[in-house]
Amino acid sequence: MSEKLTHIAIFASGAGSNAHQIIRHFTGSAKAKISLIVCNKPGAGILQIAEKEHIPTLLIEKEPFFQGDAYVPELRKKGVELIILAGFLWKMPPALIRAYPDRIVNIHPALLPKYGGKGMYGRHVHQAVIENKEAVSGISIHFVDELYDNGAVIFQASCPVLEGDTPESLAKRVQELEHAHFPKVIEGLL
Ligand code: GRF
Repeated sequence: MSEKLTHIAIFASGAGSNAHQIIRHFTGSAKAKISLIVCNKPGAGILQIAEKEHIPTLLIEKEPFFQGDAYVPELRKKGVELIILAGFLWKMPPALIRAYPDRIVNIHPALLPKYGGKGMYGRHVHQAVIENKEAVSGISIHFVDELYDNGAVIFQASCPVLEGDTPESLAKRVQELEHAHFPKVIEGLL
């Protein structure tokens, strides 16, 4: 039986380690193809990864993203059906959410609904978790709506917060969970 290939766009503006894992996972897959990397930061690590993996990139700017068509025509032109946010910090504009209802998925490095919302990204998340003496942290993969870190949770996994943890050591443990689970969770959504 032939399967339909789902075209995925990954939005990423950081180092791109999650994006890289997802790209690797779907290389040669009959189920999905990473057809576009969308980035808002010239020079971001993800752009080098995209070049090495021969994946087209789209460098986006604030004005058209928030006040214009949110690059929906470009995404449509590539046949994009699913959007994955992997280290992308801009809020999703309504035009994009309307174009991709329940088709935008984010990963957050904590157990939502705790430690989410504006300003809760990267090191800030892990620092707050440690300061509050949480015994566990983890990852949340969730659908995206117009509020930060607010849509329905699809998947969570947890890891311990150890005595003496620094934001960096906890980030590393959480990142291992992200890499282990995110590509498989995406595959489950196809
Ligand atoms: C991840 O920790 C993810 O949870 C968050 O941004 C980070 C991206 O890291 N949304 P990387 O660029 O994939 O290495």
